[in-house]
Amino acid sequence: MTSKKKTKLGFLASARGSNMQVIIDACKADELPAQPVVVISNNRESGALARAQAEGIAAYHLSSSTHPDPEQLDRKITSTLQEHEVDIVILAGYMKKIGQRTLTAYKGRILNIHPALLPKYGGAGMYGMHVHAAVIANGEKESGATIHIVDGDYDTGPVLAQKTVVVTAADTAESLARKVLTVEHELYVETLGKILNSEIQLPDRGKFN
Ligand code: GRF
Repeated sequence: MTSKKKTKLGFLASARGSNMQVIIDACKADELPAQPVVVISNNRESGALARAQAEGIAAYHLSSSTHPDPEQLDRKITSTLQEHEVDIVILAGYMKKIGQRTLTAYKGRILNIHPALLPKYGGAGMYGMHVHAAVIANGEKESGATIHIVDGDYDTGPVLAQKTVVVTAADTAESLARKVLTVEHELYVETLGKILNSEIQLPDRGKFN
């Protein structure tokens, strides 16, 4: 009996790469029928690139310093993903907008995680601790994580899944960030599992499943 072809995952990440790591770990543990094949970062010093190298996954630093022309950068990101035959692109703390060529090539197959319950607390400037500080400042009783399909803007594409956390009076932006990161890790693996077993259908699912 031939085993089913694994879905190939490509990551774009700018910093720590902890979401990327839990997905890699789930693939290695056969919890996800997928194979991480490439990691691209705009940050040469990122934890994500170091993690990729430690895992033996192809790793590329592609940024405005390697490719000053935005169109050339977009072209290089698309071709790198395609050369590695990526089926699904996973944004894991990627701080740059995705270029039009990449968006078109991977339409409906680029996922992002955001550390709040979109559509609240999304958009330009809403990243990292800014998100959690705004949630606390507004006295919200809950926050959480959202996974969505990426379109041309920040945090606006169709929502695929959310997971909530309770915000208590004792929470600070830092403590809330830790709580949300824990559910982010759970949610990314769970949601990918549902995509891969077709419980959640991506618009262009037929291309990889
Ligand atoms: C996460 O909070 C994610 O929601 C946001 O950026 C952060 C990335 O963390 N988009 P890590 O690099 O995965 O540790």
